[in-house]
Amino acid sequence: MLASVKAQTLEESEVPKYTLPALTILNNGKDVKTAKVWESKRRDEIISLLKNEMYGIMPKKPKRMVFKVFDMDSTAINGKATRKQVRVIFDKKADSIFMDILIYIPNKIKQPVPLILGLNFAGNQEALNDPKIKITESWVSKKSKGAIKNKATEASRGNAEDVFPIERMIDEGYAAATIYAGDIDPDYLDLNNAVQSLYPKLQNRKDNFSTIGAWAWGLSRAMDYFEKDKQVDEKRVVLTGLSRLGKAALWAGALDQRFAMVISTESGKGGDALFKREFGESVDRITKVFPQWFCLNFDKYANNVSQMPFDQHMVLALVAPRPLYIGTAIEDLNEDPKGEFLSLKAAELVYKLFGFNGLPINQLPKVNQPIQTDKLGFHIREGKHGITAYDWHNYFVFIKSRL
Ligand code: GCU
Repeated sequence: MLASVKAQTLEESEVPKYTLPALTILNNGKDVKTAKVWESKRRDEIISLLKNEMYGIMPKKPKRMVFKVFDMDSTAINGKATRKQVRVIFDKKADSIFMDILIYIPNKIKQPVPLILGLNFAGNQEALNDPKIKITESWVSKKSKGAIKNKATEASRGNAEDVFPIERMIDEGYAAATIYAGDIDPDYLDLNNAVQSLYPKLQNRKDNFSTIGAWAWGLSRAMDYFEKDKQVDEKRVVLTGLSRLGKAALWAGALDQRFAMVISTESGKGGDALFKREFGESVDRITKVFPQWFCLNFDKYANNVSQMPFDQHMVLALVAPRPLYIGTAIEDLNEDPKGEFLSLKAAELVYKLFGFNGLPINQLPKVNQPIQTDKLGFHIREGKHGITAYDWHNYFVFIKSRL
């Protein structure tokens, strides 16, 4: 039984007064006045705070990792693309623990091609209706369309084509890659299974990496592969993610500066939104309903948000000076659209340290009025939680001129 969860605020008038932890003051009290000091000192301070208190620490790149290309077909998507499926075995001595990367590369481009990467919710077979995609054998949520007893079936093929529009990416000249998050770590409470089982020394620690941490770690392992794939331009990899997978994309992009750009859609609490506004999903709820997402140390803030020495503007600031786009939706109150905007607004300080522009506005913009600066993007669209053609339209505009 789930312990009772404190009621959540959906009234702007109930948002408490709060102060955001400073981005540009070092732990020793000195101001960060230059991008150099940010990069060499403050960045690491913030990363260790967020690791220890929220997402968990992370193992280094595994030494015995192997990549096995088990499928290659240049006639995919009516001959427009080459499909590759690559198995990443994190430790060759434990080959039952792996993730499969599904990649489509546009055939018309002969040089290394920029790539858009995103985790998916229920298996690579969801990403496109292509019968050659291996159906995941990993655990999937019972709620996933077509799932029987937590296993994916044929009925799930192509279910998520709108979430991550692969054919459009190919037409626009990008490679597309996706990985089932549950291959890396299934989305239920067990902080020691899947990839965590490879690191027994971290188990039972309150700062052991969590499910969101593991997903982010897996994204970096995909980058390790792209660095070796000659068809991919590893300097131009865009990381995307929706909702909980947006939380993982942001954390991966924050830590791993090899990712050239991050686009987060409605990642909300634990992603782009400020916890300290206490609007929408509460820390109490997120730690009780999704206890696997963050490390055990995070639980102490469940009813103690004002004492948190960090907030999500720090995660966004770690992406600087690389381009960052936040997309949200007016009806998605659980994720707190205003808190997502204010978080980005706070993070702009670090972009300014690097000499780039902040957002031209101080208040949440009107619905369907996207803002794009040299490095930052934001929109709030009409409608509910999810990802739409409108979101992707804006993302492609942003990617095209900034990647
Ligand atoms: C729930 C959860 C959110 C999360 C979302 C999703 O709504 O409360 O934090 O972002 O699921 O992943 O779809």
